Parts: sequence; C-alpha cells; structure tokens
Amino acid sequence: MQTHAIILAAGQGTRMRSALPKVLHPVAGQPMLGHVLDTTAAADIQHRHVVLGHAVDEVKRWLTENGCGDADVAVQQEQLGTAHAVRQALPQVPDDALVVVLYGDVPLVEVQILRDLCQTATSGLALVTARPASPFGYGRILRDAQGAVTGIVEEKDATVEQRAIGEVNSGLMAAPAAQLRDWIARVGNDNVKGEYYLTDVVALAVADGVRVATVEAADAASVEGVNDRRQLAAAERRCQRLQAEKLMAEGLQLADPERFDLRGELHFGRDVGIDVGCVLEGRVELGDGATIGPYTVLRNVRVAAGAHIASHCVLEQAEVGTGCTVGPYARLRPGAQLEADAHIGNFVEVKNSRLGPGAKAGHLAYIGDADIGARANISAGVITCNYDGANKHRTVVGDDAFVGTDTQLIAPLNVGKGAFIAAGSTIAQDVPAGGLTICRARGQKTLSNWQRPTKKK
Ligand code: UD1
Ligand code: CA
Repeated sequence: MQTHAIILAAGQGTRMRSALPKVLHPVAGQPMLGHVLDTTAAADIQHRHVVLGHAVDEVKRWLTENGCGDADVAVQQEQLGTAHAVRQALPQVPDDALVVVLYGDVPLVEVQILRDLCQTATSGLALVTARPASPFGYGRILRDAQGAVTGIVEEKDATVEQRAIGEVNSGLMAAPAAQLRDWIARVGNDNVKGEYYLTDVVALAVADGVRVATVEAADAASVEGVNDRRQLAAAERRCQRLQAEKLMAEGLQLADPERFDLRGELHFGRDVGIDVGCVLEGRVELGDGATIGPYTVLRNVRVAAGAHIASHCVLEQAEVGTGCTVGPYARLRPGAQLEADAHIGNFVEVKNSRLGPGAKAGHLAYIGDADIGARANISAGVITCNYDGANKHRTVVGDDAFVGTDTQLIAPLNVGKGAFIAAGSTIAQDVPAGGLTICRARGQKTLSNWQRPTKKK
C-alpha cells in the first residue's frame, strides 16, 4: 500500500506576529516544514502533499529551491479548519492509499512514531496521542469506560471536566484514504470556532463501528506544536539537545551540550573539541584533532586536522589548513583560504585571499583579494588597499616576503619573493624580490621649543 503524507501548513500563524509564514520559521537552521518533509521521507512515505494558504508563493519558492519540488501543493483559499485543509489535498490521493496527516507546525516528530502510526492505521483510524505537562490548547482524547476512544474535543469546546483530561491529540493521524474521504465529507462546523475540525473524524469513525487505535508518544515534547515564539524557542532547544547527544555519541567533544548550536550539518573526525557558545551554520567540516574555542561562529567552513580556532572568531565560506591557528577575534570572510600552518591573529580580516603554508598575519590587518606566499609575514596594521572605489584589485606577496608594520599595499600590486618592506610604507608600485623597500614621508624633525597645550580655565 502506498502512503501519502498530507502536511497542513495553510494557517497564518497569527500568534507568531511575523511577516514570515509560520512553517518557514527555522528550527536548527531549517524551516519547520523542512523538518516535517524530512521525517516523512525518513519513514519511507512515498508521496507528500502540502496544504498552503498564506504566503503560498513564498512557501512554494522555498519548496522548489530546497529540493522539495516533488511535493504536491494543494491551495486552501480560506482557512476553514483542519478537515477542510485535508480535503484540499485528498483529490490527489488514490482510494487504495494510506493517508497520514501531519501538521507543518509540529516539527520534531520522531521517525519511529510515524512508522508505528502507519503500521497501526492499515486496519482503520489511528492517532498519535501524548501526555504533555500541560494539556492546555490541545484537543483532548475522549474514551469510554472500557478505554476505547470515542472522540476528540478541542480546548475551546471542552467542558471543565474534559479540560482535566491529560491525554491530548498530537495532530498526527492516519487512515485508509477511501474511509478518510468519506468521514471528511461528513464533518460539520458546528463548534465554537465555526471550523471544520479534522478531529471530528474520530467520532464519525466510531459511529461507523471503526475502532480507533492510538499510539502514545513516550516524550510529549516530540509532538509539541509551535504556535508562538516561546514554543519555537522550546522546539529549538529540544532539537539542539537531540543533535548534541547524537554528535557526542559519535565522538564529538562538546564542553557543554546546552551551549552549542548547530544550524546545518557537521562532519567531524576524531578528537574534535568545541568549547561553549559556538554557532555552526551550513556545512561545517572539522578534521581530526581540530579544536574550536568559545564563542566562535562557523558558517560553511572547512577546518583541517589539528587546526585551532580560538575564541570569538567569525568564519564564513573559509578553508583552514592543517595545523593553522586562527584568532582570537579573527574574521575569515568568503574565499579565505589558509594553507597548512598559517597563522591569523587577533583583529585580522581576510577576504577572498589565499595564505600560503606558514604565512602569518598576527595582528590588526586587512587582507583582501590577495595571494600571500609561503612563510610571508604580514605585520601589525598592514592593509591591502584592494578597492579603488569602483573595482577590486589583487595583491600578490611572494614567498618569504616581510611586510612591515602599518604598510599600505595599494593594489594591483606584486611584492617579490623575500622582499622586505619597511614599517610605515605606502607601496603603490611593484616591489622587487629581496632588498629593502621603504617609502615614508621624509624629514622627521623634533622642535625642542614647542609648548604643550594647556587646559583652558
Ligand atoms: C490542532 C488540533 C488539536 C491538536 C493540536 C496539536 C484540530 C481541530 N485541532 O489544534 O486537536 O491537539 O492541533 O498541535 O485539528 N491548518 C490549515 N488550514 C486550516 C487550519 C489549520 O492548514 O484551515 C494547519 C495549520 O497551519 C497548522 C495545523 O493545521 O499547521 C494545525 O492548525 P492549528 O490552528 O494550529 O490547530 P490547533 O488549534 O493547534
Ligand atoms: Ca497548532
């Protein structure tokens, strides 16, 4: 039997108070909708239907740009309720399929519970229930004296006694398509919100003599919905904790899993350590023995074996070679490439530049659009003047060159191998290999009869 997932994502998400459609709000760097789609794929569900209503084009664009173009989109013009939403996708589902309904705002569903749900639903209607610390806001599961499910009542429609029920509807539901189609056609909107509730299919199934099976989520947080910013933050923390636990089980050393944020994918070798407060985004690779100091941000970065990134660095689209040392307080911008054993110190910015093996820039420098040779030394305060106000130009510094303190290198420029540029030089012409090149304002003087200014009374 083919399984079709119908993911409800048409709601506006008013309580988020956001211009961004709710299901595109990220958890661990990925929109909630992306998490739900991934989970259905991981559970081997063959087809995906996404029901959209608000910001349809924006969500569609996200789907196509993120490899989810195969998901069928059903548009729900008016948000008349969850049953009405499911109805929009059902015409695309064959009668002999199994339908699983998921909510786009319940991002951290476990693959196993989804598998269990599908298994259970082949013989009728199945639901995932949970017992959260507070059932407030959820639909409550009604059972008869024998414990059989008789229906679901929404918070707003529930009596005081019903609100005391701790077992809630997670929103995950599965049923054979033909039966679901029939029940949904019969759902009315005679309730406090005037909506067509998907949850009403439960009572209809019971009336048809169909037994309703339930699968309880062991951890209620795994099926928690996100309706507001507080719940989004809670989902984020949960997701981060789960990721951290998985990574540590695989051998990653985290100084504190509660102070580690991965918003993408991390690939790492043996004995890699990450100190507190780091944020990793996109695709990050850390080679054997690489270590990351506290409060560093890495975005699409490759750090080779044995390299050390010290505290408070920001690296983006950069490559750090084996044995390199970077920071503290360094910034590697897109296109920064450090070869083996290069060193970048504090307050150094590198952009679209290669530093050869063993090259060093220890303090306060800007290296933009440059090619720095092996073992070259870039002293404190050196600036590549790469931009003439209209175009960017390259600076090439040869192997073993020494660029003295506070030198301005006005690109385009070539500095020969082994050249030595004296401190304080403004270099606008190519520098030959070897030799000392100096270019300073002439005539340092001392005026001995000079009076220091005094403070006016
Ligand atoms: C829903 C359930 C409730 C359950 C809870 C779990 C119903 C009637 N209630 O309540 O039993 O405990 O989820 O989190 O199903 N949506 C549409 N179109 C609509 C209405 C909603 O696509 O017309 C989507 C929303 O975007 C959202 C999902 O369906 O992704 C759930 O809707 P929401 O309004 O958040 O339902 P809850 O009140 O949370
Ligand atoms: Ca909800």
